[in-house]
Amino acid sequence: METTALRNNFALRKVANRYPLRRHITAFFATLLVIAMLALGAFAAWQIFALLALPDDQKELGVNRIIWMLVIVSALLLLMSIFAVWELARRLSKPLRSLADEAQSIRDFDFSNGVAVNTGIEEVDELSIIMNEMKTTIRRFLEIGSSLTAERDLHSLLNRILREMVDVSRAVGGVIYLLEEDGSALRFETGRNAEGQTFEAMDEDYATRVPLEIRNSIISDAAMRRKIEDRRVRTDEIKSVDRAIATKLNVKGQHVELIAVPLLSPRGEALGVVMLVHEADGKAESETASGHLLSLIKAIAGSAAIALENQQLMLAQKNLMDSLIKLVASAIDRKSPHTGGHCTRVPALAKMLAEAAVKQNYGPFANFRLSDQEWEALELASWLHDCGKVTTPEYVVDKATKLETLYNRIHEIRTRFEVVKRENEITMLRGFLKGGSSLREVERQIAEFNAVIDQEYAIVAEANIGGEGMPPEIFERVKEIAQARTWTRTLDDRIGISHEEMTRLKAQPPKPLPVLEHVIDDKPEHVVIREERDQMPADNAWGFKLRVPSHKFNLGELHNLSIQRGTLTDEERYIINDHIVQTIIMLESLPFPRHLRNVPEIAGGHHERMDGNGYPRRLMGKDMSVLARIMAIADVFEALTAGDRPYKKAKPLSEAIKIMGAFKRNGHLDPDLLDLFLESNVWMDYSYRFLNPEQMDEPDIRTALSIRPASEPIGPRAGNMGAETPRRIA
Ligand SMILES: [Fe+2]
Ligand SMILES: [Fe+2]
Repeated sequence: METTALRNNFALRKVANRYPLRRHITAFFATLLVIAMLALGAFAAWQIFALLALPDDQKELGVNRIIWMLVIVSALLLLMSIFAVWELARRLSKPLRSLADEAQSIRDFDFSNGVAVNTGIEEVDELSIIMNEMKTTIRRFLEIGSSLTAERDLHSLLNRILREMVDVSRAVGGVIYLLEEDGSALRFETGRNAEGQTFEAMDEDYATRVPLEIRNSIISDAAMRRKIEDRRVRTDEIKSVDRAIATKLNVKGQHVELIAVPLLSPRGEALGVVMLVHEADGKAESETASGHLLSLIKAIAGSAAIALENQQLMLAQKNLMDSLIKLVASAIDRKSPHTGGHCTRVPALAKMLAEAAVKQNYGPFANFRLSDQEWEALELASWLHDCGKVTTPEYVVDKATKLETLYNRIHEIRTRFEVVKRENEITMLRGFLKGGSSLREVERQIAEFNAVIDQEYAIVAEANIGGEGMPPEIFERVKEIAQARTWTRTLDDRIGISHEEMTRLKAQPPKPLPVLEHVIDDKPEHVVIREERDQMPADNAWGFKLRVPSHKFNLGELHNLSIQRGTLTDEERYIINDHIVQTIIMLESLPFPRHLRNVPEIAGGHHERMDGNGYPRRLMGKDMSVLARIMAIADVFEALTAGDRPYKKAKPLSEAIKIMGAFKRNGHLDPDLLDLFLESNVWMDYSYRFLNPEQMDEPDIRTALSIRPASEPIGPRAGNMGAETPRRIA
């Protein structure tokens, strides 16, 4: 629209029927002189006739009177002339005053109102037109600059640049090529044809990628020379890439003007080229873009190049950040076979569920929409949702048996049982040497004892395996064995050990050797005290509500064998759960840009429960964003169906969906989102992408959908660390 105004102004200047100032002033004074002469002549004639009519004796008196009258009339005419000149000056200065005000408003960057001056004086009117053009041009330039800066998407920016430049230069159409990363060729990005339609591809490969060294186009010339190339040619004489472009733009007419404008960075590096095509039939040189608009095109190209470079830099930084985030996620996945591809599959599932929520146009998510920035936040959050796992010790994550620390201590205990057997054998054989029972009897007793020890060790070894639930009588038997069986230690246990272990041992006075020890024991040095730095105060800055175990570790052998379910002690489970605490601390310490500020909230809520019994903040569902609740569902489903965990078989779909339904009933997962997950077949789409064929059985979706939460969310229970998730670590 603004460009149309520009064109009209130029047209106005051409057709206006105005006269120069010198002609106006000459005409004015000539008219004034004629009027004065006529007035004086008429008055003199009238007085002369009156004088002739007088008697002779009065003629002398009459002459004097005529002289006086002429003096008075002349004075009056002079006064009238002064007034006329003053009026002329006033009329001339009025439009000049308006133009001065206009210039002042331009100086003050106020482009709001244009002044229409129409004096009939050519210089003044033309000055007025030029000032309006200047005002329009500056305003347009500023608007283009700010609109280019405001574009956040590289593709939209390129289209915007092209549209503005085509419009301002009154071109038929144009194309944009960007320089490839290594600077060897220009690659087609976008085009705009004579009908104002955008196209995203060229028909010929040679016009899609234009190597700079071939120099077969005006665009490669502009990129190489880094200056505007302007050629006026016959349409049928255009060759190669330029012909392909002109054809694609639908250029008609016999003559065209091709203008290739390089997009130069502030350092003078070519980023790309905009090519504009003008129809030049019947137009004089000054009427084409190579006239007065070329400077404006060049200035717009400068602004466009800055905006383009900023976009490319931002895109490069975003790509780098995305790569770093994915690097962290894949490092976590590689760190332990217990997490497998979790960190890479959860983002896919979270995105699928969010897309289903956006698509739903009824029910609880009828109005749920996500902006581009929110999509970006979800993607980042889902990739980073378990980043705290980098701090989780592998020996805890991978703890496969109850006695495992950095190695499985069952081997140490087995050796002690062997020692027990040998010590018994030695004692028995010594008795034989002293003349006791017969050798056969001794050997029988030794074999009998060994069989008992073998059986007892088998019970201990079995208790070392983590399972769904160890019967209490098994552990009672382990305790009896531990109490009953001893071995003799004759070596100092305080040499060859670490400083930390020595510190723990020093708390107890050393026992004189030889010392009798139990085959399985809980010793004071097995307990590792939690230092101040490992505490999490109740009034912590992150709002974590954690029950921190008083010990950092309890390596007691009996203590570990007493684990009822799985292989982890309370202390180790705290470490496992700590991954989400560390995730939140890490993410909240990052200086996310404004539009990504909610990444920590989205990422850090996947272990919360809708009933407020999750961790680490014990949030209620209503206190969590939809995206955080989506993350929780994605995290659970991935963990249930993962097929790459060495410690468990992948659950079939039917079982996973059944468990998800139970999680809806017990207030673990968001019921609305879970229903959406089931109804929208996200579970099925995900299964086809990521599950093994043998997992793909027939889940009972209808039953899972019919489940309602057992009660309304009840809020956090005091003193509860958070309900145990059936997932080991997800
Ligand atoms: Fe997690
Ligand atoms: Fe997870």
